[in-house]
Amino acid sequence: MDRRRVLALAPAASLAAMGVRARADPALRRPIGRAGDSLPVIGLGTWLAFDVGSDPAEQAPRREVLRRFFAAGGGMIDSSPMYGNAEWLLGQLLPDLPHAGRLWAASKVWTPLGALGPGQLDRSLALWRVPRFDVLLVHNLLNWRAHLKTLRKWKDDGRVRWIGVSTSHGRSNDEAARLVRDESLDVLQITYNLVDPSAEAAMNRAAERDAAVVINRPFDGGALFDRVGRTPLPAWAPSEAGCANWAQFFLKWIVGHPAVTCAIPATRNPAHLDENMGAGRGRLPDGDLRRRMQAAFAKLS
Ligand SMILES: NC(=O)c1ccc[n+]([C@@H]2O[C@H](COP(=O)([O-])OP(=O)(O)OC[C@H]3O[C@@H](n4cnc5c(N)ncnc54)[C@H](OP(=O)(O)O)[C@@H]3O)[C@@H](O)[C@H]2O)c1
Repeated sequence: MDRRRVLALAPAASLAAMGVRARADPALRRPIGRAGDSLPVIGLGTWLAFDVGSDPAEQAPRREVLRRFFAAGGGMIDSSPMYGNAEWLLGQLLPDLPHAGRLWAASKVWTPLGALGPGQLDRSLALWRVPRFDVLLVHNLLNWRAHLKTLRKWKDDGRVRWIGVSTSHGRSNDEAARLVRDESLDVLQITYNLVDPSAEAAMNRAAERDAAVVINRPFDGGALFDRVGRTPLPAWAPSEAGCANWAQFFLKWIVGHPAVTCAIPATRNPAHLDENMGAGRGRLPDGDLRRRMQAAFAKLS
């Protein structure tokens, strides 16, 4: 394991507080890049959850999700031009919320035509109403050759700090990890959760290159909650894994992996947001405990 990642894990391991007391603990962070920067291990996704229009009743819970996200020390918000109104809604809501110095604005380029990439990125920046992006990815590797050229130019021009690629559902894990290596990318976004751990090799390869690893679909799009239904948490989960609920069980299992920088669960529900942010505090499971969590979850099927 990379030395910086070991150091980043050490404070978490030494925190004896249980998950139920976790809000008193600082938000756990992981390093990104080589300049000593870091970001909180729990971020926020916006696919479906933030695709609404100007109806105040629909906007209100999303505004509250964002307010609580920053109040809990949240950082990365992930979106894409593929997510309908999500980028626009972020641009409507973010200026009224206190988040100075906290927001990690992460979006993507998603068009088959390389020539359309720069215009799409300009539009995203205008929709978000931010001065620059922190992270920009080629969504699902679509026409990555053309778009990586554009993203590199944006990075050189100071319009984005970190660039990379995303994939999901285990579709292109090996190709994505190869690109991170061959193209010296900063970020790999990939699917990893308790029903689909197939990305581990790709995640490890990215981490060995000092690339940040961002986990999408941490709840398998919500299906993990259907799977557990009303089953109670294992009796040992609160005291040993620091989990007060299944959301924290799923997320702590993910961010307990040493290659992971950040997971980006999506929610439109403020109560769910509170649960999710609790996973980014207190203790994280080590390898043995993660295996036990995986076995306990497998028994549910
Ligand atoms: N290729 C790519 O680049 C790519 C692909 C997929 C996803 N992504 C990114 O990753 C993000 C996360 O993935 P995802 O949105 O597909 O799925 P996800 O985060 O695994 O699951 C979201 C679902 O979980 C539910 N949920 C969230 N927190 C919960 C809680 N505490 N208790 C119960 N239910 C909860 C949400 O419903 P509620 O709203 O009711 O809470 C929603 O239905 C996306 O939003 C997107 O930003 C990127």
